Order: sequence, then structure tokens, then C-alpha cells
Amino acid sequence: MFRPAGYSVVDYGHMIECEPRMGIYAEAMRAAITPGCTVIDLGAGFGVFALLACKYGAGHVIAIEPDPSIEQLMPMAKANGFADRITVVRDISTNYTPETKADVIVSDCRGSISLYQHHVATLADARARLLAPGGTLLPMRDTLRIALAQWVSNRRSTIRPWLTNNFGLDLSVGYRFAVNEERKAYLRPEDLMSAAAELAVIDFRTITDPNLDATVELVAERGGAVDGLLIWFDAEIAEGLTYSNAPGEPELVYGQMFLALDNAPRLAAGDRVTVRLRGILQGDDYLWTWDWQVLDAAGTPRGPSVRQSTFLSHMFSPKALARASDLNTPALNSQMMIDRDCLALVGDGRTLDEIARTLQERHPEHLPTHQAALDHAALCLGRYNRG
Ligand SMILES: C[S@@+](CC[C@H](N)C(=O)[O-])C[C@H]1O[C@@H](n2cnc3c(N)ncnc32)[C@H](O)[C@@H]1O
Repeated sequence: MFRPAGYSVVDYGHMIECEPRMGIYAEAMRAAITPGCTVIDLGAGFGVFALLACKYGAGHVIAIEPDPSIEQLMPMAKANGFADRITVVRDISTNYTPETKADVIVSDCRGSISLYQHHVATLADARARLLAPGGTLLPMRDTLRIALAQWVSNRRSTIRPWLTNNFGLDLSVGYRFAVNEERKAYLRPEDLMSAAAELAVIDFRTITDPNLDATVELVAERGGAVDGLLIWFDAEIAEGLTYSNAPGEPELVYGQMFLALDNAPRLAAGDRVTVRLRGILQGDDYLWTWDWQVLDAAGTPRGPSVRQSTFLSHMFSPKALARASDLNTPALNSQMMIDRDCLALVGDGRTLDEIARTLQERHPEHLPTHQAALDHAALCLGRYNRG
């Protein structure tokens, strides 16, 4: 499955302005592109990398993107004199089979860290099926890093509402959801309480496993309450062309990933926190689990071992869980019946108008007007049709 990213034009605009990210990508493309070569812009958005590839001499550029933003690429290509060199593929890359493989594939499908949705599988597939032997993959490699962090404003805005309020209400049931939620952060060097440890090197030229399981020990460099773990990446787009979303570096669109520690334990300088961080891709998203324990400088535990997980931040209704059970026998409800009829009518080769008329006849209580039936049919079919 692929869940659309849902970026707006403003989001894509921020990506274009995001420096040094754009400048480094542009430099890497300029170095990798040889006159007349074939380039794939994977996850093109509006296709700015595709336009740059043409500018740097590519002979053919294939821009792949499921989002409607890609429909604006051809007008932009015309405006820049590149229309004859660009092919637009409005789909996800894993559905695309190329006629010729690319000499260069350029993409940036990260979230706040490199392990984001199907990024790893997407690039592993692109490497295997879309890239010519000896071709260049941009980005080349990311290194994930982690450190202890203080984030006092998050403690106030995210955690405190569930622990204390002006009305004397006990809202503590909400605490476990809040403290297990993954947050996007923009922290500074002074917010860090330990040196960074390396979590993983993600080499896009070889990686196949999207999951992470890493254990690190972080040593507090100063005393105080530690709010959580901050995770970021150092990107190497090509040899010698790097940028990072580490604290202290220019703020980038990605932000950093923050995982809170239950009860924000107080540390003394020299205390250590052992952390086992696991990221397991489940469906379209990562489930993050962080097991941690505070030890004093001599290695003696200073509290229990704690297990946290983004799983605990999700609210599952007992009804929804029962529905997902393999023992459940699903029953048709009225919405399903309308959709079943709608899809069957599509199979009969009817026009949308005919489909709507038949649906209205069969389900007048739910589709009282022709317009309501038309809207319903369009919505139902929109789930299956792109473009
Ligand atoms: C962060 S945006 C990058 C846009 C632009 N390339 C840039 O770097 O400014 C990532 C884009 O990748 C697209 N994407 C993610 N996975 C994809 C896939 N497998 N095939 C095609 N597009 C994909 C998303 O829809 C999103 O528009």
C-alpha cells in the first residue's frame, strides 16, 4: 500500500527553499549527470529535480510522482524549454517499469529521519529495477544519530495538560498516549544533555531491511531532567556533498525526531542511559519502541527498566480491534452495498450518469437526489482512480 504524502504547494515550496538541502542536491546532480544521460526524479513533487537535471544536460528525465502536483511539471518544463526531454509518470515508482534504465536516480523521500514510511523499500526497488548497472543513486548514505535532550516547552505543552490543570480534574489516563507519541522537533545544541551516539548507517546503495534495532549508551554531560531522545541524520548525497538536521545546523524541512522518556528522569552528570531503539515498519508507518534504563556512573541501575512504544500512543477502539480479528465475519452495511453496486455497474461499462441513476433507484434512502448519487459514485471511484 502507498499512502499519499499529502503535501501542499506551500510544503513543496518550503522544500525548494530548504538550504543547504537544495544546493547540495543540485551540486550532486550536476556532478553525476553526463550529457545526454537518463535521469529518474523519484518522488518528484512538482519536479524541480527533474528540471534541474535537464538544466545540467540530461537527455531524458522521467519524473515519477503519484501526487497531483506532478501535473504542473509539463507547463513548468515548457516555460523552461525542457518539455521534449521530460516524461511524467503519475504513479508510485514500484508500479513503473522502465523502457531504459536510468544512469542517475535522484530522490528525497525522508521524513524527520531516513526511516520513513516505505523509503527503504522504494529505494531498494529503484536500485534493483530502475537503475542501470554502475548508475548513481542520490542520496548515497545517511547516518542516524541519537542524544539525550531537554525539551522544556514540549513538557509543558504535550505532557503537562494530562498531569495537572486548573480545574482539579484527573486527566492522567491521557498521559500514556502523550508520552509515547513521536514528535517533530527543532532543538538546539544547548538542549542536548549528552554527546551523540551513532544509531545506524543507512547505505541506500545496499540496504534492503527497512527495520532498525540498535542499542546505545548515552552519558549525561550535565545534571537535570531528561525529557527524551533526539534522533537526526547526517546525509551524504554523494561523496563529499553532505548536510545534516542536527541541532546547530540550519533548520531543514525535516525537523528532528523526538521520543519522550516517561517521567523525565533526573540525571546527575556522569549518569548513563542505555537505550534499545527499534523501528518496525508496519503497514505504511514505523512503530517505534524504546527500552531504556538509567544507570549511575558506576553502572548501577538507578530505576526500573522502562519500555515505551508509539503503539501506546494509538487509541484503538475495542470495536475496531474486533473488526480486524481474523475470527471476525464481516457483514455488509449499507455503504458497502452501495459501493458493491457501484463497482458492479462500472464492470457493466455504464456511464457515470447511468451508474448514479441506478444507485439512486436502489438506495433512495441514502441517495435521495441524482446529485447525491453522482457525488457518491465519484467518491467511490476516486479511491481506485488516479489522475
Ligand atoms: C519530500 S517530497 C520530495 C519532493 C521533491 N523531490 C523535493 O525533494 O523537493 C517526497 C515525494 O515523494 C513522493 N513519493 C514517496 N514515495 C514514492 C514512490 N514510491 N514513488 C513515487 N513518489 C513517491 C511523495 O508523494 C512526495 O511527493
